Amino acid sequence: MRVEQMDCGKNDYAGTFLASDGLVDDDDVIGDVPAPMPMLGIYLQMMTVGSMAAAGRIGLFDALADGPMSVASLTDTLRASRTGVERLTDFLVAAGQLRRDGEMIANAPETTRRFTRRGPIDWGTGLIWTAEAWKIMSDLPDAILCGGPERSLWDRMAEEPSLGREFSRYMRAAAELVVPDLLSALDLPDRPLRLLDLGGSHGVHSIELCRRHPRMNGVIVDLESALTETRARIAENRMEDRIGVHGADLRSCDWGEGYDVALYLSVAHNMHGDENRRIFRHLGDVVRPGGILVVHDYPKETTPPLFESAFRLTLLTETGTRTYSYAELTGMLADAGFATEARIVLSPAEKGTLIIARRSASNIAGLGRMVGEGFPRR
Ligand SMILES: C[S@@+](CC[C@H](N)C(=O)[O-])C[C@H]1O[C@@H](n2cnc3c(N)ncnc32)[C@H](O)[C@@H]1O
Repeated sequence: MRVEQMDCGKNDYAGTFLASDGLVDDDDVIGDVPAPMPMLGIYLQMMTVGSMAAAGRIGLFDALADGPMSVASLTDTLRASRTGVERLTDFLVAAGQLRRDGEMIANAPETTRRFTRRGPIDWGTGLIWTAEAWKIMSDLPDAILCGGPERSLWDRMAEEPSLGREFSRYMRAAAELVVPDLLSALDLPDRPLRLLDLGGSHGVHSIELCRRHPRMNGVIVDLESALTETRARIAENRMEDRIGVHGADLRSCDWGEGYDVALYLSVAHNMHGDENRRIFRHLGDVVRPGGILVVHDYPKETTPPLFESAFRLTLLTETGTRTYSYAELTGMLADAGFATEARIVLSPAEKGTLIIARRSASNIAGLGRMVGEGFPRR
């Protein structure tokens, strides 16, 4: 088995403020001496997250992406109140995200690079999503008391379509970060190939794989709420005749069959254990012997603990599901007839891990279980 560990470099917890960043008063942490103002760091982190999310939501950084603006024209452009823009920009100047020169306000260069359409990846979509997640996170105490959410994220999205659109836009940014790793992890033969992208959402993975492999055709299966811009993006890339889109619950719909490659990227943590087991087994039915299944997720063994535990807490509040260990995932894969060939820990490790598994040549794993197990019989 191939096991790759990429150079993890230095963690970049952008937005995590330490005393040394200058955002928390130096008096707050003095060696091991108890902090005289223990709420200061928490308050400033709260205001930082709140104001960054608000800036994303009202389009402040994008408005400044092409150059500085006066407070007056920013106010007009954003159709906001002058007082509101002054207060927000004052704070973001103090926090280092903006610069001020007299009346003129500008993005700091890193702000334009990270959070606007002018950067290599527009993480402004993440700020907009954070404005939504901020509201959902107010349910965290209830989720802790009850062991899960009263309403799952997917139910919220079905009721509020803009939520699904903003989530998919953010997932698209995350996918743009991971797609080069995915492309370099796969060594596929030069022949007609069929691709199944379960939970494929924005379509970035399917589009880029089809671009790399001109004889590949694909199907994306996801909830309608995640597909608001997918068909248009496929059309922009002139791939309508190569990539189909199926809006349905992947736990119960027909996926088709005869696939050479299947993607299950950042979906396992949104499913309960028995659902993943059934899905992997059904993948064992629809992926051809010798075909490849790629799983992307955040297994405990390879994910830094601060991020991993934060992510599990998020899942508790949003979906009521959890992450799975590498041992659990490869166990479920083996049960479904897939042999794990590679584990690729991405860099930084917060990007997650790719598991590359191959469908065994025989269908031994399929013997002795119910055909379909909840999926439509053909
Ligand atoms: C974290 S996103 C990952 C999106 C994409 N695969 C990626 O890696 O960027 C999880 C996706 O799973 C989809 N999903 C969750 N539950 C689903 C279900 N029951 N049926 C179909 N799709 C589902 C969501 O709509 C969402 O698009």
